[in-house]
Amino acid sequence: MKLNLGVKLFISYLAVLLVGVVVLAAVAQVSLPGAYGRHLGQMAEIMGDSGMMDGGMGPGRGLGSGSGQELFANFQYSFYEALAWAALAALTVALVVSLLISRRLTAPLRAMTAASQRVAEGRYSERVPARGGDELGQLAASFNSMATKLEQVESMRRQLIGDVAHELRTPLTAIKGSMEGLVDGVLPASPETFAQVAAEAERLNRLVDDLQELSRVESGAVVLDLKPVSLPELIETARKRLAHPYASKGVTLTLDLPAALSPVRADTDRLLQVLTNLLGNALQYTPAGGHVMLSAELRAGEILVRVADTGIGIPAEHLPHIFDRFYRVDKSRSRQAGGGSGIGLTISKALVEAHGGHLWAESPGEGRGSIFLFTLPLV
Ligand SMILES: Nc1ncnc2c1ncn2[C@@H]1O[C@H](COP(=O)(O)OP(=O)(O)O)[C@@H](O)[C@H]1O
Ligand SMILES: [Mg+2]
Repeated sequence: MKLNLGVKLFISYLAVLLVGVVVLAAVAQVSLPGAYGRHLGQMAEIMGDSGMMDGGMGPGRGLGSGSGQELFANFQYSFYEALAWAALAALTVALVVSLLISRRLTAPLRAMTAASQRVAEGRYSERVPARGGDELGQLAASFNSMATKLEQVESMRRQLIGDVAHELRTPLTAIKGSMEGLVDGVLPASPETFAQVAAEAERLNRLVDDLQELSRVESGAVVLDLKPVSLPELIETARKRLAHPYASKGVTLTLDLPAALSPVRADTDRLLQVLTNLLGNALQYTPAGGHVMLSAELRAGEILVRVADTGIGIPAEHLPHIFDRFYRVDKSRSRQAGGGSGIGLTISKALVEAHGGHLWAESPGEGRGSIFLFTLPLV
C-alpha cells in the first residue's frame, strides 16, 4: 500500500501516543496496589482509626480485609475510568494536532512537486516560497536556484539561435543579392562580382567553422593534450605564421621574452590557436604604421603573456563584453575590416580557461591601444 507522507506522519504520531497510553496503563497497573497501600496508610494516620479504613496501618494493610479489597477495587475502577477519559481526550487532541502538523510539513513538499512539474513543462519562471532555514526551507531555496539556472540556460539558448540566424543572414543576403543582380543583368558578370560572392561564401564558411569550434569548446568536447611546452618556440611559430600579413599591412610585431622561460603545461595546437587569434586581432584593429608587442614574464606558479597593440583601443564600457559570443565593438567596422563574427575571443577565453589559466583585456580607451593578457600554469 502506498501511503503519502502526511498519512505516514499522522500514523507515527498516533503510534507514539498509543504506546504512551499502553505504557501508562501498564505501569499504573503494576504500581497502583503499592501506592494505594502507602497513601491509604498515611490517610488512616491523618484521620485516626475511624474504622472506615478498617484499622489498617502501613503499606498493604488496607488490602488485608474484605471491605479493604472492595475499597481498592472501587478505587481501581475509578482510576481506570479517569484514565480512559484522559486517553480519549488526549487521542482526540493528538488527532487534530497531528493532522495540522502533517499538513504543515507536507504542504511545501506538495508545492515543490507541483512547481517542478511546471518547470519540466518549460515554465522556468516557476518559484516556490522559501521560508525558514530548516531542511524544507533549504530544499525550496535550492529548488529556486536550480530554476533560475535553467531559466538562464534557456534564455542563452534562445539568444544563441537568434544570433546565429542573424549572423548567417548577412552573408546569405549579400550572395543572394549578387546572384539576382547577375541573373537580371544589373550586375556585370565580372571577376570582381564573382570574387565578392566568393568572399561572402568564405565568410559563411568561417562562421560555420567558428560555430562548430565554439560548440566543441563550450560543451567540453575538446580534449586537451597537455604536455610541457616551450612557450618561446610556440610564440616563434605564431610570429612566422603572421609575418606576412603584418608586413603587408605595415604593422611591426616585436617579441620581448625572458632569456629562460620555464615550460608551461599546454596543448600545443590550442595554445597556438589562442596566440594566433590574439595576434590576428591586434593586427586587425591596428592601423598601418602601428606596433604590436608580445611579451611574457614569469609569475608565481604561472606565466603571464601580454599582447599589446597601438591600435583603435576598446572603450571601457565594451571591455566587459568583448569575450561574449558575437560581441563586436563596432559591427560595421569589424565587418569592413575583414573581421570575424565576434566568436574568436570567446573561443580563446574558453581554451585558456581549459588550460587552467585566465584571459582578460585592458585598454586605456578609444584610439589608445589594447592589451590582452593571459596566464598559463607552469608544469
Ligand atoms: N586588439 C584589439 N583592439 C581593439 N578591439 C579589439 C581587439 N581585439 C578584439 N577587439 C574587439 O573585440 C571584438 C571581439 O573580438 P573577436 O572575438 O576576435 O571577434 P572578431 O571576429 O570581431 O575579431 C572585436 O569585434 C573588437 O571589437
Ligand atoms: Mg577576432
